[in-house]
Amino acid sequence: MVAAESWLDRAAALALHGPAHGPNPRVGCVIVGADGAVLGEGWHRGAGTPHAEPAALADAARRGHDVAGATAYVSLEPCAHTGRTGPCTDALTAARIGAVRYGVADPNPQAAGGGEVLRGRGIDASLAPHAGCADVNRRWLGSVALGRPWVIAKWAQTLDGRTAAADGTSFWITGDEARDHAHHVRTQVDAILVGTGTVRTDDPLLTARPAGVPDPHQPLRAVMGLTDTPGARIWEDGTALRLATRDPREALDALAAREVRTVVVEGGGTVTTAFLRAGLVDEVHAYIAPALLGAGTRAVGDLGIGTMSDALRGQDVTATHLGADTLVTAFFTRGHQ
Ligand SMILES: NC(=O)c1ccc[n+]([C@@H]2O[C@H](COP(=O)([O-])OP(=O)(O)OC[C@H]3O[C@@H](n4cnc5c(N)ncnc54)[C@H](OP(=O)(O)O)[C@@H]3O)[C@@H](O)[C@H]2O)c1
Repeated sequence: MVAAESWLDRAAALALHGPAHGPNPRVGCVIVGADGAVLGEGWHRGAGTPHAEPAALADAARRGHDVAGATAYVSLEPCAHTGRTGPCTDALTAARIGAVRYGVADPNPQAAGGGEVLRGRGIDASLAPHAGCADVNRRWLGSVALGRPWVIAKWAQTLDGRTAAADGTSFWITGDEARDHAHHVRTQVDAILVGTGTVRTDDPLLTARPAGVPDPHQPLRAVMGLTDTPGARIWEDGTALRLATRDPREALDALAAREVRTVVVEGGGTVTTAFLRAGLVDEVHAYIAPALLGAGTRAVGDLGIGTMSDALRGQDVTATHLGADTLVTAFFTRGHQ
C-alpha cells in the first residue's frame, strides 16, 4: 500500500498543472480505491472553473469508477464555502468518499473549515502536513497569511550592483536568456509594478512575452508615483493602472482590491528601496550580468542598515545560470510555512 505521503506528492504534482497566477490557489486531487488503484485525478484550472475535488470526481465518473468508500488525497483542505463554485465538501459527501487527506490546511478564512465539516458528516478527514503541497502555493499561502499581495522584487544588475549606467541606459544589462526568463516569471504573477522614473527613462511595455510571443495571461501593469507620464507606451491600450502614491502599502492595497495575489516590483531603485524599507519584499530575483559599470544607478538604495548583523538575509536561495548571466533568488518572508 502506498503511503499518504506519496499520494500527496501526486496531488502536489497535479496541482502544478494549474495556473500560478490568479486569485485562487493551485490544487490537485487524486482519488484512490481500497485496493490502491487510482480512480480519478483532477486539478483546479483557475478562478471560475471546477475545484480539484469535483474535477477528480468527474474524472472517476468518466472512467466508470464508483468512488464510494475511496480516499481523496488533496493538496489543500477542501473548501466549505460557495464562491464562484459550490463547496467541495458537498461534492465529496455526495460522492460518498470514505476518507480525505489534505497536505495543507486552508488559511483563507472564507474557505477554511472543510476538514471539520467533513468530520461532522462522519467522513475520516484529516490534515497530513506535506511540504510539497505547501511549496506549490508558497506565494498564495504567503499572501493569505500576510493579508496583502506577495511581493517579488526583480532587477537586472551588473556585478557591481548597478541597474543603469550614468546616462540612465539600462536595456541590455543582461542577455536574451535572462530577459526571456523574466518574461516567463511575468506569466506567473497577477501584476507588475514600476515607478514613474522607470516609465520616463525606459518607456517599457511591461507585457509578458516569453520567447518573444505575447502570453495569453497578461498581468495587470501598474505605475506608482505622483507625477504623470503622458505619452508613455504603457498607457497606449488603456489597461495599465496609475497609482498616484509613493506609499508601498497604499499601492499594495489598491492591487489587493483588484484580487492581485502576486506582484513583481520591477524597479527602479527608488521604488524597490521603498518596498524594502517598508518590509514589504517577500522574494528577490536578481539577474546578475558579468559586467562592471563603476558608476550609475544602484539596485537598492539606503535601507537604514548600519551594521552587518542587521542585514536582511534571504533563505532558500537558488542560483541559475542563464547564458552568461546568473539569476539569484531568495525568500525574505517565511509566509505560511
Ligand atoms: N536594471 C533594472 O532592472 C532596472 C529596472 C527598472 C529601472 N531601471 C533603471 O532605473 C532608473 C530609474 O530608477 P528610479 O529610481 O528613478 O525610478 P523608479 O523607482 O521607477 O521611479 C522613481 C519615481 O517614482 C516615484 N515614487 C514612487 N514611490 C516613491 C517613493 N516611495 N519614494 C520616492 N519616490 C517614489 C517618484 O516620482 P513621482 O515624483 O512621480 O512621485 C520617483 O521619482 C532608470 O535608469 C531605469 O533604466 C533599471
